[in-house]
Amino acid sequence: MQLTAAQRAQFERDGYLFFPGLFSPDEVRQLTDAVPALYARREAFNVRERGSDAVRTNFAAHLYSEPFARLARHPRMVKPVMQLFDEPVYMHQFKINGKMAFEGDVWQWHQDYGTWKNDDLMPTERAMNVAIFLDEVNAFNGPLMFIPGSHRKGVLDAQHDLTTTSYPLWTLDHALIAQLVERAGGRHGGIVSPQGPAGSMILFHSCLVHASSSNLSPWNRVSVYLSLCAVSNHIRRFKRPEYIAHRDFTPIDCLPDDCLLREAPVALPWKNGLPASALDTSLEVLP
Ligand code: SIN
Ligand code: MN
Repeated sequence: MQLTAAQRAQFERDGYLFFPGLFSPDEVRQLTDAVPALYARREAFNVRERGSDAVRTNFAAHLYSEPFARLARHPRMVKPVMQLFDEPVYMHQFKINGKMAFEGDVWQWHQDYGTWKNDDLMPTERAMNVAIFLDEVNAFNGPLMFIPGSHRKGVLDAQHDLTTTSYPLWTLDHALIAQLVERAGGRHGGIVSPQGPAGSMILFHSCLVHASSSNLSPWNRVSVYLSLCAVSNHIRRFKRPEYIAHRDFTPIDCLPDDCLLREAPVALPWKNGLPASALDTSLEVLP
């Protein structure tokens, strides 16, 4: 899949592109069917909501689950990102966020690049977020919210929030959010929230300011978040464990477009469990 000139211009202006229903119900089923077994595993890669057994985030499934390993190499997802960066990309982070019915907690306002810069020493913002909905996303189950155009502000000052949720995040101050929303149009488009059927995809800039509120609805909002980084922009520090911030900078080799529906061989290096090295961390800076 290639982006048109109009889509590229829209991405530059708004910081995101939304593709409702890009993956078919049959394709999505290959992925959703695998989620309960992944979430049931008692491993470090499953971060649970504070005070609950519900999974908030599952990390790195593309290294131990076949359908997700195929998704990680899917041309409908990878090709547009390579086109925007004009360079091969590698997988920096791979998450399946639960946001489970009644239990899914908030994600405070943040830019993903804030965390990648501060924690991982990623040199520039040449990394892209991709969200793929495994459930319908509607107004009630904690949809992502964006401040359109906020990516053009570059990296904003952030604070390390270690207490609000079960997962540490570099978050933005409320006065700054109010200002950004006002500048983006206030009540008239200052916050947008792409909603649509399972199989929809969003590409969003790593500096786009985003958040989501809790899910008090009876509907799960499971979504995959893939973060693809330009190979030349790989991280320079392994301060976070490898299952959170990957250390293999090999360019992604795409599979055929129908790879979710038929056998496509993929390597599953962590299929027998997390290697001990995936928990190691270091403050050393790579050359
Ligand atoms: C994220 O910002 O990384 C996740 C947000 C969400 O799942 O709503
Ligand atoms: Mn984020």
